[in-house]
Amino acid sequence: MSKRISIAIDGPAAAGKSTVAKILAERLSYLYIDTGAMYRALTYRALQEGIDLDDEKALIALLKDTYIELKPSERGQLVFVNGEDVTNIIRNEKVTNSVSIVAKHPLVRQEMVARQRALAQHGGVVMDGRDIGTHVLPHAEVKIFLKASVEERAQRRHAENIARGFESDLETLKEEIARRDKIDSERKVAPLKKAEDAVEIDTTSLSVDDVVNRIMEIVDERTG
Ligand code: CDP
Ligand code: CDP
Repeated sequence: MSKRISIAIDGPAAAGKSTVAKILAERLSYLYIDTGAMYRALTYRALQEGIDLDDEKALIALLKDTYIELKPSERGQLVFVNGEDVTNIIRNEKVTNSVSIVAKHPLVRQEMVARQRALAQHGGVVMDGRDIGTHVLPHAEVKIFLKASVEERAQRRHAENIARGFESDLETLKEEIARRDKIDSERKVAPLKKAEDAVEIDTTSLSVDDVVNRIMEIVDERTG
């Protein structure tokens, strides 16, 4: 049996991280860990409780009381918060437009990173996020940084919204994605950034299969 390694996938919003990470995890029989879902879960609870998103102390207290589970299922990965299935609700617009504010707080990140490392401690994981290769798993055997033009990324989210029957405005999506990327890239602690030893893949004109195949080649090289 080949070695069960850790695969870190980072990049900006809608670059294709979770789509590709899920397929890789399935092919390799690895655990898929969606770290964005963890920040979204806390944001969801903070909004529900009416907590000021700039109040780090209150957020930390809430996080200590927030049990987040990522459970694989036939319907894909499900996200539970204190036993409640929040898989869909954490992707809503309100959470999406607030999550980067919550994710800026150093103590929130410290606690999230501890939980993420604990989940990855035995290897055999594909973890996606913003700071996985640079900070959460600096020794990951494979590090990938996915990027794509903001136009293409907004178009992808737009297509997803239309397919789900949601209202969607391309220009608004483009602005929201650019705004979130800016906050994520400029924050002081563990900003969105390519790790020096990550392989960068521009997915703008690639299919999902192209990206998965390229990463599988790298995984095969590293696992022998
Ligand atoms: O799917 P999408 O790329 O839109 O977002 P996500 O991966 O669910 O992440 C949501 C937000 O959580 C990001 O915009 C970041 O603000 C934050 N995040 C983070 O700070 N660090 C991570 N490792 C993952 C997500
Ligand atoms: O996780 P992240 O926010 O980076 O992106 P995602 O949630 O995986 O969404 C990416 C969307 O673009 C999905 O609808 C994919 O089907 C599509 N897509 C892709 O992921 N990769 C490509 N090379 C082309 C399209």
